[in-house]
Amino acid sequence: MAEDSFNGKNALITGGMGFIGSNLAAKLAGNGADVTILDAMIEGLGGNQFNIHDIKNKIKAIAADVRDKKAVAEAVKGKDFIFHLAGQVDHHRSVGQPFEDLDIRCNGTLTLLEECRKNNDDAKIVYSGTRAEYGAVKKLPASEEETPAKPIGMYAITSLAAENMMLMYNRLHGTRSCCLRITNTYGPRHQMKKPYGIVNWFIRLAMEGKPITVMGDGKTLRDYLYVEDCCDALMAAAAASEKSEGETFNAATGTGLSFLELAKEIIKANGRGDYKLVPYPDETKQLEPGSFVADIGKIRKLLRWTPKTPLSEGLKATIAFYRKNKQHYW
Ligand SMILES: NC(=O)c1ccc[n+]([C@@H]2O[C@H](COP(=O)([O-])OP(=O)(O)OC[C@H]3O[C@@H](n4cnc5c(N)ncnc54)[C@H](O)[C@@H]3O)[C@@H](O)[C@H]2O)c1
Repeated sequence: MAEDSFNGKNALITGGMGFIGSNLAAKLAGNGADVTILDAMIEGLGGNQFNIHDIKNKIKAIAADVRDKKAVAEAVKGKDFIFHLAGQVDHHRSVGQPFEDLDIRCNGTLTLLEECRKNNDDAKIVYSGTRAEYGAVKKLPASEEETPAKPIGMYAITSLAAENMMLMYNRLHGTRSCCLRITNTYGPRHQMKKPYGIVNWFIRLAMEGKPITVMGDGKTLRDYLYVEDCCDALMAAAAASEKSEGETFNAATGTGLSFLELAKEIIKANGRGDYKLVPYPDETKQLEPGSFVADIGKIRKLLRWTPKTPLSEGLKATIAFYRKNKQHYW
């Protein structure tokens, strides 16, 4: 990614008060971009005013819902880059409140695409999809071209639908959209009140001196991505111009680690802690797709993006952040 790709450019981030969005806002502003965030601060989701406290004088914040056509029409005008991160991200909430998830994800995405088509058809749009779109993967690592997408829960189903809308607008209207399927991301600015976002939740338990509860036999593999690397992948997709348009890319490390090994790494990084194996609650078991590791050959080759942060370093930086700022997160 060229160093100056964002310097002097206008960027919009939907969901910019949330975990990934606020980290991205800080990075883009640091790269000289003129950053606007749009967020509805929906109760119980990851938006947090503190996430932007150190950049609030450098960015513009719009309090609006991504389903609000008028607000979105205004927000997209004149933007070079649009990062669509607004969404409901809690797997359990998506099953309990399926219409909310569907409405935010699908109406929100369609509203953004339509308002871009009418008001700014030249913007580059990057969508933050999820590895959960694959569902249970028979042969690892999962690749964009060969692994079927068979999502299990509502969150993943609506995310795959939103991804397909992005790709359809590219095909039918020439919208300059592309999609990432992001794996389990962790780091500073993630909500810490609820047990979703597995790495951050394990970190909270360890920091509180509670045993980390690892479900099942702990052998399930996941691919854990540090948020700085995730932001770099979103930016690489935005900066890559026509190479990335109409494409979907895995954004992950390409390496699997079990939940049990993750718990041990967190205990090491925290300097203390314990873990215990607990049975899966029925509802969690039904939503659990099993092991996941991504093939990252495509994103490496086409976008020249590669993750840089070793897990041990990412964990230490995350723990240091919450030691300093935990009053704002739990
Ligand atoms: N965190 C991960 O591990 C991960 C992995 C894969 C994909 N993603 C995707 O990345 C995106 C960002 O995730 P995150 O972890 O930062 O979540 P987050 O909950 O921290 O942030 C999402 C933000 O979107 C806002 N939002 C929700 N509905 C909105 C609406 N209708 N209008 C405007 N704003 C709205 C929320 O208020 C929140 O601030 C999501 O789309 C998520 O599905 C995240």
